[in-house]
Amino acid sequence: MELRTVDQADVAGRWVLVRNDFNVPLEDGKVTDDLRIRAAVPTLRYLLDNNAKVICCSHLGRPKGKPDPKYSLEPVRPVLAQHLGVDVAFVDDVAGEQARPAAEALGEGQVLLLQNLRYEPGEEKNAPELADRLAALAEVYVDDAFGAAHRAHASVVGVAERLPAYAGYLLAKEVKVLSRLLENPERPFAAVLGGSKVSDKLLVLDSLLGRVDSLVVGGGMCFTFLAAKGYEIGDSLFEPEQVEAVRQLLETAKSQGKSVLLPTDVVVAREVSADAEPRVVPADGIEPGWKGLDIGPETAKVFANAVTEARTVFWNGPMGVFELEPFAAGTRTVAEAVAAAPGYTVVGGGDSAAALAQFGLADRIDHLSTGGGAGLELLEGKTLPGVAAIPTA
Ligand code: 3PG
Ligand code: MG
Repeated sequence: MELRTVDQADVAGRWVLVRNDFNVPLEDGKVTDDLRIRAAVPTLRYLLDNNAKVICCSHLGRPKGKPDPKYSLEPVRPVLAQHLGVDVAFVDDVAGEQARPAAEALGEGQVLLLQNLRYEPGEEKNAPELADRLAALAEVYVDDAFGAAHRAHASVVGVAERLPAYAGYLLAKEVKVLSRLLENPERPFAAVLGGSKVSDKLLVLDSLLGRVDSLVVGGGMCFTFLAAKGYEIGDSLFEPEQVEAVRQLLETAKSQGKSVLLPTDVVVAREVSADAEPRVVPADGIEPGWKGLDIGPETAKVFANAVTEARTVFWNGPMGVFELEPFAAGTRTVAEAVAAAPGYTVVGGGDSAAALAQFGLADRIDHLSTGGGAGLELLEGKTLPGVAAIPTA
């Protein structure tokens, strides 16, 4: 799928509204991970070099339709300015009395950042009234917010119906790379899924199963798989209402001759803490009172091997509680294998990206996706509203 991109728009001397995903983690009013801001630079750079008057907008967190200083976008301003190498103006208003004159005042090659879109009650409801006000700020709309493409919000779909709409380079690339995983991956194709909940990943597991050569399952969600096989899982994370669905997935895999790799050994502890005393036990022997908190070393080797042998790798979700050193080894081994893999590697989801950053491996991935939920929904085979809103090339 190829979207119509920003370079096909007439932008010189015109006001361009850019929907970004600047939903970044903050601590004490400072941005702690700027991946999504850096990823926005190519499109913004292009617009500035081509003399557009650029108005950036984004949501941050979930302030529920009213102003909340905790979710101000202001902390993004200096980081964006630094990466763009130009001043960025900021207005504490989304599309009202203050935003209008601030946008009006922009010169060619200048940038304005609006306040958090979700300060407006109409944003998540896709209210026509808000879409009208946002659209009135500009002459052209560019969507570069892949991370929000699964949200049918006013700034994502409403504005795209009111202005000539184009994809930014980030949105276009994310869609191209992720749809290639579904349509035409180089084989063998291995998908490594982790994270805590099966219920979050079941649809993507179902969708990927028909497309991959091997499915590798670790993280908290693997214990529901192990339970479905009849293993004792002690006090590990468990979603009993997913057992039937997991059993069916395993049966489908078997009938299609697909391999589903599950842990054969796991790291267990009595509690989730940095000074826990971890033990390695066989995956079918977790005793009551003990929790599985990482894949074991034998499993990590097998998983890493599957990654190394694949021509295409998709990884989403950590293998264990990698934030705590006693349970980090499994995720580290998989992350190192993905970083070193000779095949084409795609990593999605904030936790996997955080793990790569923690291990210093983030720049060794072919495509580090900025979308968590959006990436998963695309891989589930769903049409994302933010993608459907942009004409194809
Ligand atoms: C994300 O971080 O997944 C996106 O920015 C979307 O945020 P949301 O889940 O609050 O819509
Ligand atoms: Mg995630």
